[in-house]
Amino acid sequence: MFSLFKKAAKLATKRSKKDVKSQTILEKILIITIANQKGGVGKTTTAINLASALALAKRKVLLVDLDPQANTTMSYMQGEVELEQSTYAWLCDNPEDLSAAFSQTSVEGLTLAPAHISLARVEQQLQGDLEAPYRLKDVLSKVASDFDFVIIDTPPTLGLLTVNAMVASSQLIIPIQSSYFAMEGTDDLLDTVEKIKRRTNPNLEIMGVVVTMYDKRTVLGRDILAQIREVFGVKVFQTVITRNVRLEESPAYKESIFSFAPKSSGAQQYMKLGREVLKRVS
Ligand SMILES: Nc1ncnc2c1ncn2[C@@H]1O[C@H](COP(=O)(O)OP(=O)(O)OP(=O)(O)O)[C@@H](O)[C@H]1O
Ligand SMILES: [Mg+2]
Repeated sequence: MFSLFKKAAKLATKRSKKDVKSQTILEKILIITIANQKGGVGKTTTAINLASALALAKRKVLLVDLDPQANTTMSYMQGEVELEQSTYAWLCDNPEDLSAAFSQTSVEGLTLAPAHISLARVEQQLQGDLEAPYRLKDVLSKVASDFDFVIIDTPPTLGLLTVNAMVASSQLIIPIQSSYFAMEGTDDLLDTVEKIKRRTNPNLEIMGVVVTMYDKRTVLGRDILAQIREVFGVKVFQTVITRNVRLEESPAYKESIFSFAPKSSGAQQYMKLGREVLKRVS
């Protein structure tokens, strides 16, 4: 028992030195996690299109896919992703060349760190490793200095992958789908954010809540939007993302919404969201 305490105390000292060093590097970059443990609410759609909007605004952006479903990856890449060139390797393999996981996208200024289905094994793989929640933060402090923004897409769980993203981030964006069950699970999400703020990352802030798949023609849609605004107040972005079939189609063509359907409401709204994000961080 005593040796376990000694081990934990040693780790805490080591971590605090490491954290001061990586914090100074990471402070210059805006690292934004997109999270909500509810599935299908528009996390990936927001991650891929917000990242593109920021790149079009001449920011250098790294889009990190931490979801074993790899939907963000498939939205920009053709073909198979090699395990050693994925974010799985970042977390589990201690590779020598961390930038091997970088892949250029069709969008100028937007680099992708692709996911591999093996990310589903990370929790099991890192079991018992006291440093497991810090893996992504440590990697980003080494590879992210060339970027202005890092956007991290997370899976629909509050497990180790999402925790890694939140520990590495200064900002969190929560997409909430405009639906009858919109607020389901947000308490657990906010609890997790509070725990991470208290224990591992006091810098984490909720930048905003983005309402997705909104249908203003229905009374239910308008009621839900009003309810989300009542609960989250000014945290709710002014820009609301309405339902737009073009947003569903563009990943199949490996294009961002801005080249696939530049005049669509989806392109206009995500561009507006990008501008709001830039305003909130300035
Ligand atoms: N504004 C929108 N209009 C129409 N379809 C949308 C919109 N936003 C997202 N979708 C579609 O809804 C589905 C779920 O969206 P998305 O994959 O972004 O959610 P997610 O939260 O990342 O899901 P998961 O939890 O599985 O990772 C996708 O088919 C996507 O194309
Ligand atoms: Mg997703």
